[in-house]
Amino acid sequence: MDESKRPDSATLPRPSSAAITKQKSSWPFTLFVTVLVPVVAVTMLYQLDSFDPAPLPPSELNSHVITVPTRSDQMLRVSEFVGLGNLIGPEDMAYDAKSGVIYTGCHDGWISRVTVNDSAADSVVEKWVNTGGRPLGIAFGHNNELIVADPEKGLLNVTADGVVELLTDEAEGQKFKTTDAVDVAHNGIIYFSDASHKYRLSKFIYDILEGRPNGRLLSYDPATKTTKVLVRDLYFANGVMVTPDQNYVIFCETPVRRCRKYHIQGKDKGKVEKFIEYLPGMPDNIRYDGDGQYWIGLSASRSALWDIAFRHPFIRKILIIMEKYNRRPRMEQDSGVMVIDLAGNPIAHYHDPELSLISSGMKIGNYLYCGSVYYPYILRLNLKQYPERGTE
Ligand SMILES: *[C@@H]1O[C@H](CO)[C@@H](O)[C@H](O)[C@H]1NC(C)=O
Ligand SMILES: *[C@@H]1O[C@H](CO)[C@@H](O)[C@H](O)[C@H]1NC(C)=O
Repeated sequence: MDESKRPDSATLPRPSSAAITKQKSSWPFTLFVTVLVPVVAVTMLYQLDSFDPAPLPPSELNSHVITVPTRSDQMLRVSEFVGLGNLIGPEDMAYDAKSGVIYTGCHDGWISRVTVNDSAADSVVEKWVNTGGRPLGIAFGHNNELIVADPEKGLLNVTADGVVELLTDEAEGQKFKTTDAVDVAHNGIIYFSDASHKYRLSKFIYDILEGRPNGRLLSYDPATKTTKVLVRDLYFANGVMVTPDQNYVIFCETPVRRCRKYHIQGKDKGKVEKFIEYLPGMPDNIRYDGDGQYWIGLSASRSALWDIAFRHPFIRKILIIMEKYNRRPRMEQDSGVMVIDLAGNPIAHYHDPELSLISSGMKIGNYLYCGSVYYPYILRLNLKQYPERGTE
């Protein structure tokens, strides 16, 4: 239609949008557009969305955080990057002291070998074996093999020759969906976690925000090829580690910020006990440094938003709806590594507001090496400059 022929187009000036909002007479329209439409839209999305978060038991809701003697809150600023650009999300690490090589599993399916060097830039990355999935937890077996927890495949044996073999991918008729962390005991039994039997790794945030314990701690015995469920109903079962005395398996539960221990020997075999609670953040992998300390990757710090979300399922549902539209606020923040002693007493907390989804910490020589879910490097901190047992 030719605008000039419209009778009113000449007489009515076109108001600018700023003028519209200033005109008092149009406020019902403005209110309608800016408030009612979004509210109705969000309400409809909320009603139609099938995500059904559960209330957490009151015993699992706590905003308390333990006091940590040594704190370093600028970790990123003082760290170096190892393998920059040649690694994508090196999540967990296994160190072979004889060859000075770190084995790590990456987002693109590669298990890479990283030859570390005092000069971070001179560290060499070699892509070794691709699992075809997404290797997370990684530990040495007793026959020069690597045992790998791959959320897309299950529990894998990667032989010294680089052959990938599936050991197990289900227990009690239930398939694993997020095989996550692994460790091998001196007697050869493999302990590992399935973080969720319901959601895939790419949807881990759904599991965390659903608030249901969909995780399990499991064992696999290579001698009998049997898979056992040791503990069920865990909140995103994550890091797994056999204690150096071989008496316990320590396992981490991410959203509830704790690690517990499972007796694998003696008269209390099969019992679960407290180990450390009220961590300053959400634990991922846990590793022993051979020198009286455990190092735990903390994927995100506790925050007011996390606290509110855990208390209110409807907030978690709104967060998931926002997630679906790429609008979820960043919550996986202020990530880092926690150091504790063998009795579970806190020693140090290294973190940085700019870090997100740090998944593991490993002390090798004078350095702390940190893995993560997305960063294109292993983060390295000089512990001579920033010792875990503060010098002051
Ligand atoms: C570190 O890298 C440099 C340069 O590539 C090499 O000369 C040196 O031997 C390496 N050091 C170690 C401890 O591997
Ligand atoms: C992994 O495979 C190698 C080579 O076949 C074998 O020697 C080793 O025992 C296997 N490990 C497990 C845990 O099954």
